[in-house]
Amino acid sequence: MVKAKFSTWASALCFLSLCGDAAAHPAATAAACKADLKGLLTDPARHWAVNTTVSFPGDATFANATERWSIFSAPTYSAAVSPGTEADVSKVINLARTYGIPFMARSGGHGYAASFGKLQNGLSLDMSKFNTVKIDSAAKTLTVGPGARYRDILDPLYNAGFYVQTGSCSCPSVIGVAIGGGVGRLMGELGLTADALQSVRLVGADGVAKTVSATSYPDLWWAIRGAGANFGVITSATFKVQTLASNNNGNVFMLDFYLPKEKSLDYFKVIEKHYSPMPANLAAVLVLNWNSTLNVSQVGSDWIFFGTEADARKALAPILALGAQYISATIPWNKIIAISGAGYDPENCLPNKPRNSFSLNQKVYSAVGWQQGFETITDFFEKNPGGRASQIMLELFGNQATAAVPASETCWPWRDVRGFFQAQFVYDATDSATQQAANTYGAKIRSQYAPYTGYSKPTVFVNYARGDEPIENVFGADKLPRLAQLKHKYDPSNLFAYGHPLPQSYP
Ligand SMILES: Cc1cc2nc3c(=O)[nH]c(=O)nc-3n(C[C@H](O)[C@H](O)[C@H](O)COP(=O)(O)OP(=O)(O)OC[C@H]3O[C@@H](n4cnc5c(N)ncnc54)[C@H](O)[C@@H]3O)c2cc1C
Ligand SMILES: *[C@@H]1O[C@H](CO)[C@@H](O)[C@H](O)[C@H]1NC(C)=O
Ligand SMILES: *[C@@H]1O[C@H](CO)[C@@H](O)[C@H](O)[C@H]1NC(C)=O
Ligand SMILES: *[C@@H]1O[C@H](CO)[C@@H](O)[C@H](O)[C@H]1NC(C)=O
Ligand SMILES: *[C@@H]1O[C@H](CO)[C@@H](O)[C@H](O)[C@H]1NC(C)=O
Repeated sequence: MVKAKFSTWASALCFLSLCGDAAAHPAATAAACKADLKGLLTDPARHWAVNTTVSFPGDATFANATERWSIFSAPTYSAAVSPGTEADVSKVINLARTYGIPFMARSGGHGYAASFGKLQNGLSLDMSKFNTVKIDSAAKTLTVGPGARYRDILDPLYNAGFYVQTGSCSCPSVIGVAIGGGVGRLMGELGLTADALQSVRLVGADGVAKTVSATSYPDLWWAIRGAGANFGVITSATFKVQTLASNNNGNVFMLDFYLPKEKSLDYFKVIEKHYSPMPANLAAVLVLNWNSTLNVSQVGSDWIFFGTEADARKALAPILALGAQYISATIPWNKIIAISGAGYDPENCLPNKPRNSFSLNQKVYSAVGWQQGFETITDFFEKNPGGRASQIMLELFGNQATAAVPASETCWPWRDVRGFFQAQFVYDATDSATQQAANTYGAKIRSQYAPYTGYSKPTVFVNYARGDEPIENVFGADKLPRLAQLKHKYDPSNLFAYGHPLPQSYP
């Protein structure tokens, strides 16, 4: 008894005096802190549930419990806990608070802000075991754990007769996307992923699990829909879903094609003229990349229309008139990610690569702005063969349903947004020359494009933010006073401190 207390006290001393301030204390202390973290986590006094896994570098399960989609400026870990129960999530948070252990929750591991790299030798609170997917057909709801990825919900929902607004890839966690707003092809028809949320279970900085909804902790309910990673660890979330019968039985029309760079400006002008604003049930994702067969820059396009082919052909007439070589098909909603965009998803979802991203919201569409970005990244491709898997992605979405939600309903600040501009650099992990070029070109492309977004200053929503932006440009100056007040109320010791941390007071 006395012994256990002493070792607890000794650990506290180490974490508080050394690890809690890792930046100020160089590598010499890291090993000592690592040993103490191991001692703390493996102490029988923890009484972990039988299905909770504690792992350390070299253990078989450690790689999965800490895996990142992007290894550019990524966090590093000395230990991981993969809880099997909510009580053990509380236990981890209580330990982290008591001993000053730097940690980060991990659900899908797809957060890619460069600022995550500020967490070094930390603890991964890996939520991947909470991977349940439950559909309540009578209530028309979907309930998922944080380990559920988009790929886990698409077919079950469709087979049960439902669809829901999603992100555009199969691999991020549904909850991770939702708590940053969650943008995607159905923003025009259904709103943000966060707009479909009905309630969540959240373990707060106090270690207490709470239900958070419109009627339970309504202040947190406002804050977790846009700044969710700042307020606790969500263990489950329930979303409202829509019947397939309400939308062409869940069938959509897709139109995919490539154009060479010589035709890009004319194409962009067609979009600017005819699709600004985008109809609610139409969405486009454009990729400005390098064609490694022809060795030229190209625009790849994927247009999705939620409705019949006949209506789609009317809505897409100006695009069809371009006379490109099209691939078109009517496909069910749950196969959009798998089939459309020339099968972009598996490559886009590969983990453990440097993915160095620079993003902006866009409210208007600008052919000239896009073309300028295209010219700059083409220059990058020509001079940096090691970076030719990089791209600029333009996501063009309607925002009718997103804008119809009152601004005061959630903390998500960009309900007037109609698209996203993202330069994403990919290269070999050992290729430091290309990484350096990516940093330079990325910053240049982002600042060149900023005046064309339709916003008076550069803005970016939290899921796409790099972490080097002024916080007003991410969370919105009008939302920050209340967000900071809530941060201070619910996370006074700043446990949720990595990625896009809110301040304790603002201004
Ligand atoms: C290939 C790809 C496609 C994407 N597509 C879209 C898209 O279409 N739309 C869109 O809006 N975004 C998209 N994103 C961005 C994505 O929404 C964010 O990266 C999101 O944070 C990923 O969540 P995650 O759980 O996978 O990541 P993680 O890295 O596990 O978590 C991200 C952040 O959330 C915190 N967090 C994780 N789990 C929890 C939890 N259970 N409770 C509280 N906080 C938690 C983490 O600590 C971290 O700060 C995409 C990202 C990638 C890599
Ligand atoms: C890690 O995850 C992969 C993919 O889900 C899985 O196939 C593999 O078995 C996991 N490894 C361990 C050691 O759990
Ligand atoms: C872990 O075990 C507990 C107790 O049996 C159970 O309630 C829980 O669902 C399990 N967790 C997972 C992720 O399977
Ligand atoms: C390259 O361009 C051709 C012609 O547009 C196209 O068919 C092919 O799929 C493209 N290849 C890649 C890798 O994008
Ligand atoms: C494209 O470049 C590769 C590598 O530099 C080269 O092997 C290939 O022949 C080139 N293809 C064409 C069509 O020029």
